[in-house]
Amino acid sequence: MAFTRPVPGARRPVTWQCEPGHSGSPDRRPVSAQAPAAPAGTGFIRRRRGRAVDEPTSLPGTSPGLGLRARTSIAFALGALVLSVVLSVLTYQLTRTYLTSQREELAARQAYLNARLLRDVLRASGGEVSDTLSSLATEAGSQIVVRHEGRWLGSAVTSGEELIPADVRALVQEGQPARRRAVIGGEHRLVVGTPLPSVGAWYFETFPLDELNDTLRTLAVSLAVSATITTLAGAAVGQYASRRVLRPLRDTAAVAAEIGRGQLDSRLPEARDPDLSPLSRSFNAMVAALEDRIEREQRFASDVSHELRTPLTALSSAVAVLDRQAPELPERAQTALSILTTQVVYFQALVLDLLEISRLDAGAEHLELEPIHLAEYLRRLVDLRPEPRPRLVVDDELPERVAVDRRRLERVLVNLLDNADRYGEGARLLRADRVGDRLVLAVEDGGAGVPVAERERVFERFYRGMAAHSSGRKGTGLGLSLAAEQVRLHGGELRVEDAPGGGARFVADLPLRDAAEELGVLGEEW
Ligand SMILES: Nc1ncnc2c1ncn2[C@@H]1O[C@H](COP(=O)(O)OP(=O)(O)OP(=O)(O)O)[C@@H](O)[C@H]1O
Ligand SMILES: [Mg+2]
Repeated sequence: MAFTRPVPGARRPVTWQCEPGHSGSPDRRPVSAQAPAAPAGTGFIRRRRGRAVDEPTSLPGTSPGLGLRARTSIAFALGALVLSVVLSVLTYQLTRTYLTSQREELAARQAYLNARLLRDVLRASGGEVSDTLSSLATEAGSQIVVRHEGRWLGSAVTSGEELIPADVRALVQEGQPARRRAVIGGEHRLVVGTPLPSVGAWYFETFPLDELNDTLRTLAVSLAVSATITTLAGAAVGQYASRRVLRPLRDTAAVAAEIGRGQLDSRLPEARDPDLSPLSRSFNAMVAALEDRIEREQRFASDVSHELRTPLTALSSAVAVLDRQAPELPERAQTALSILTTQVVYFQALVLDLLEISRLDAGAEHLELEPIHLAEYLRRLVDLRPEPRPRLVVDDELPERVAVDRRRLERVLVNLLDNADRYGEGARLLRADRVGDRLVLAVEDGGAGVPVAERERVFERFYRGMAAHSSGRKGTGLGLSLAAEQVRLHGGELRVEDAPGGGARFVADLPLRDAAEELGVLGEEW
């Protein structure tokens, strides 16, 4: 019995009872094995393919809402608005009260002065009121109205009783001085009135308030403009401050995302701020510990696999020798030898897979592009398959020669074809298509397909699905995860979907590299 693989790169078919407890539903949808590159060295731990660190996430039932930066800016703007509005209102009120009282005081003083003058003149000479009125000093726009001996007289042509509000007149009539603001003839005016009992007259003077109102209006506009500017400035300061404050968080998120993408040597720069340096130090220490642990795990796994290889090779040679003499052995010994052979084959496949995985995890595997004649290459692969062989279809649109890593692509396809034989009642079709600038290779079988619930998990390491369970075939559950890694190295993705006529369709979707363009050669190799 031979222990080498039937096709280079193929992993031997082995029989092994798969793990129990798979409950897949039979509904289907395509699922991709394109995952963010994993941190190196986590290879031998069974894991679910996770979400990339920089992928946006939100808790179920919560909406993303406003970001911290927007909220900080809004808070600053609101604070500035409230402050500037309060200050503006206070300033306006105080200024208004002060200016108004100043104006009223001045006006009243002038009115009383004029009233006294008029009284003195009337008392001394008993002359005509209208003569005296014209000699009184009034400010521009002010008007004097006097009632003397039952007659109303004014300094202006239109002046008269109607210019004085009734309540002011009434108060003065009662012998009290009065003062109030009023709208007279559509103008804001201050009316001052005082009785002159010694000469039997009432003295009224009205003063224009337009100038004061204009001043107050200008003040209000200036305050509103400055409140708006202050609010905008507050928002800008909030924006700037939040950007500065959040920068360390952004840096941390960026480094965490890099680490999530597998760059384990990424670190935060040492912060000079005493409040932030503990964060950067502990973050870096955590990443260093993680990197160290992953490295140790990786070394351990690869060391163990290496150590196992030598005794396994010796064991397999010894079993091969025994196998050649099997017919001469008693029947029970033959049964034992057969079990031993199966286990050694399985063990060898496992160790080889583990070694490959540890190399992939360590980033030690690189793409080695070679020109191949695609149709010939696929034809040879199909010819090496056991009967009944799958049908081969190659798209005419594809260039004759493409650049691929021949060994890796072969591993992927042999893996998919082996799986189709094991779990899908045989591969029916191998096809290569051009879809835009992609090379799409698909293997279809006539089995039950892969249940939707398993379509992501089949690409996980050590995962064996329902089909493996019911087939009773032995395997490690590493085949598809390795194939997915190989496809990923090509810059593509491996996914599973339903085949048109039922069954599973595994699709390796790769960037199409025309050998002539990519390598500048028309190599004859395939
Ligand atoms: N063509 C297929 N049809 C149905 N199920 C499949 C098919 N190919 C793979 N599977 C499911 O995916 C699982 C994982 O496949 P994978 O190749 O990774 O592991 P395996 O074949 O069980 O073991 P090995 O590491 O030896 O290949 C299988 O156990 C099987 O349940
Ligand atoms: Mg397999």
